[in-house]
Amino acid sequence: MFVSTLPAPKADLHRDLFAAIADLKRELNAVILAHYYQEPDIQDIADYIGDSLGLSQQAAKTNADVIVFAGVHFMAETAKILNPDKLVLLPDLAAGCSLADSCPPDKFAQFKAEHPEHLVISYINCTAEIKAMSDIICTSANAVKIVQQVPESQPIIFAPDRNLGRYVMQQTGREMVLWQGSCIVHETFSEKKMVQLKIQHPEAEAIAHPECEPAVLRHASYVGSTTALLKYIQQSPSQSFIVATEPGIIHQMQKAAPHKQFIPAPPMNSCACNECPHMRLNTLEKLYWCMENREPEITLPETTRVAALKPIQRMLEISV
Ligand code: 13P
Ligand code: SF4
Repeated sequence: MFVSTLPAPKADLHRDLFAAIADLKRELNAVILAHYYQEPDIQDIADYIGDSLGLSQQAAKTNADVIVFAGVHFMAETAKILNPDKLVLLPDLAAGCSLADSCPPDKFAQFKAEHPEHLVISYINCTAEIKAMSDIICTSANAVKIVQQVPESQPIIFAPDRNLGRYVMQQTGREMVLWQGSCIVHETFSEKKMVQLKIQHPEAEAIAHPECEPAVLRHASYVGSTTALLKYIQQSPSQSFIVATEPGIIHQMQKAAPHKQFIPAPPMNSCACNECPHMRLNTLEKLYWCMENREPEITLPETTRVAALKPIQRMLEISV
C-alpha cells in the first residue's frame, strides 16, 4: 500500500489549529484580542478585533483569566497594566513597534524636563515607561477630542508620533511641542504613487490613517483610526477606496462591504513594506503555541505599572 509522506492539506491543518485554539481558549478561560493589522486567520479566530482604543477598552472590561493579545508589545503591555492579576500572552515577544522604539525613556525624560510647564499627552503607541511619564494617553481615535479638552492656556507636549501630532494641531488649531517619532509603515506611503493611483482610479476615494505624513494625508478625503476607516467605507456611497494604512484592515473591509473595491496604497518601493513587520511576526501557529505553553508572558515592574495606569485610566474615562 502506498503511504503518502506529504503533509496534510493546508486547509485541514488550519481546521485542526482553529479547533485546538478553541479548545485551549475554553480550558484557559482565555479571550483573544486582535488588532486589524494581524493576518486574516488570526482575525478570524479572535473574540474581538479592533483599533488600539477598542482593544484597550475590551482589555479593561474582560472577565477572562487569560488575555491572548494578537498585536504588538505596547498593546499587550497596556492590557497587563490594566489587569495585573491576569496572565497576558503575546504570541511573539519580539513584536515591537517602530513608533514606540523612537521614544527612548531616558531621552524623553530629558525632553520633558526641558518643558516643565507642559502637560504630556502620549499616543498609546509607546512603552510603559513613557506612559508612566505622561499625564494622559490618547489613541488615533480620540487624540483630537482629548487635546480639545485641555484649557487653551495649558502648553502641551505630544509624543511620540509627529505625524499624528501635526494632524491634531491642524484639526484643533493648537500649538504643541512634538516628539519627532514616526511609524515606519505609515511613512512608507508615497505621495507620488498615491497621486498616480488616484489618476488610474478616478472613481476611488482615498482614505488614510493619521500616522501618514502630511503629504499623503492631503490627498485623503477621510482621515481616521482603523476602526473609523472601517466604519467610513460602509457609510460612504463610494464603491472603491484607496486605503493608506496597513493592508491587514482590508480583510475586515471586504467582509463588511463585499461588493466594494479596496486598493492598498502602495509603498515607495516595490516591497511589501506597507505591511507592519512587527504585527506580522504573530502567526496562527505562534498563537496556538503561546496558549499551549502559557508563554511568552508580559510582565513589568509594579511601580512602572501603577504610574502608567493613571494616564490610561484618564483616557478611558474620557472615551466612554
Ligand atoms: P489604531 O489602532 O489606533 O488605528 O492605530 C494603528 C496602529 O498603527 C496601531 O499600531
Ligand atoms: Fe507600530 Fe506602525 Fe506597526 Fe502600528 S503599524 S505597530 S505604529 S510600526
